[in-house]
Amino acid sequence: MIKNDNEMNDTLKTIFNLRSIRNYSEKRISKEDLNLIIRASVRAANASGRQSYSIIVIDDKQLLKKYFYSANKGLLFCVDFNRIIDAAKYLNHTFASNNIRFFITGTTDTILAAQTATIAAKSLFIDSLFTNSIHREEIDIVYDDFNLPKEFCFPLIALCLGYPFKEPKYLKGRLTGLGVVHHNRYHRLSEEELENLIQEYDEEENHIGLSWENWKEMGFGHYLDWFYTRWSREIPSEKLKEFHLMLEKSGFIDPEWYYRK
Ligand SMILES: Cc1cc2nc3c(=O)[nH]c(=O)nc-3n(C[C@H](O)[C@H](O)[C@H](O)COP(=O)(O)O)c2cc1C
Repeated sequence: MIKNDNEMNDTLKTIFNLRSIRNYSEKRISKEDLNLIIRASVRAANASGRQSYSIIVIDDKQLLKKYFYSANKGLLFCVDFNRIIDAAKYLNHTFASNNIRFFITGTTDTILAAQTATIAAKSLFIDSLFTNSIHREEIDIVYDDFNLPKEFCFPLIALCLGYPFKEPKYLKGRLTGLGVVHHNRYHRLSEEELENLIQEYDEEENHIGLSWENWKEMGFGHYLDWFYTRWSREIPSEKLKEFHLMLEKSGFIDPEWYYRK
């Protein structure tokens, strides 16, 4: 039993030292390390042994610059059923992945693999950053840039990998208590508990939340005042429409399905 943080084993130390790095040095990730990261990534649990994802390994400088913060390597994690569908066709079977449940399950497979990659990387002293840069670009362009199949494949998350240009000053904190962890039944926060939550964000040394701008200097009373008014801007409806259309085109989500049944 581990009684205090000093007694953590190496696995826990690796997980507790995860941090996002946005500026990478020129140092290269070795082929052997990259290979290990990918082998570890696919060890993650996956529904029905389907591994319903594809991992695109990126070392093209232009793509790294455009989507991966110019990291040394990038991994694009896509929920993807094409390999499974093609194998079925080849054997004269059918495999229908045109439903939202497969999309959600496939998404879970994909994200578990992605997070496992970050832990494996960190254990090899390689840092990372998850980014949804791919969802900021026009989605059709993303499909073209990576030559993704238009059906039953959706790019979920980009993972940047590399060595830091400069060590960050601190590790970001996390909420760990009420409102995050619930016991047996969901507990909605009371006003008093919300007040504590707001304070928890405000406490500088907790380093919870984003630190892009100094909200105090900007005249905000609370971090969350800055967050809700300056950061969490509404996504333009055109952008959302593009997203909906691409999900429909991908075949996972059919908005008419419910009415036809
Ligand atoms: C789905 C997802 C998307 C993210 N996208 C970005 C991004 O586009 N740019 C960025 O700088 N950080 C991005 N991040 C990183 C978070 O900002 C970061 O994980 C968070 O601030 C906590 O910091 P830490 O990872 O250093 O503990 C993303 C993280 C996730 C999980």
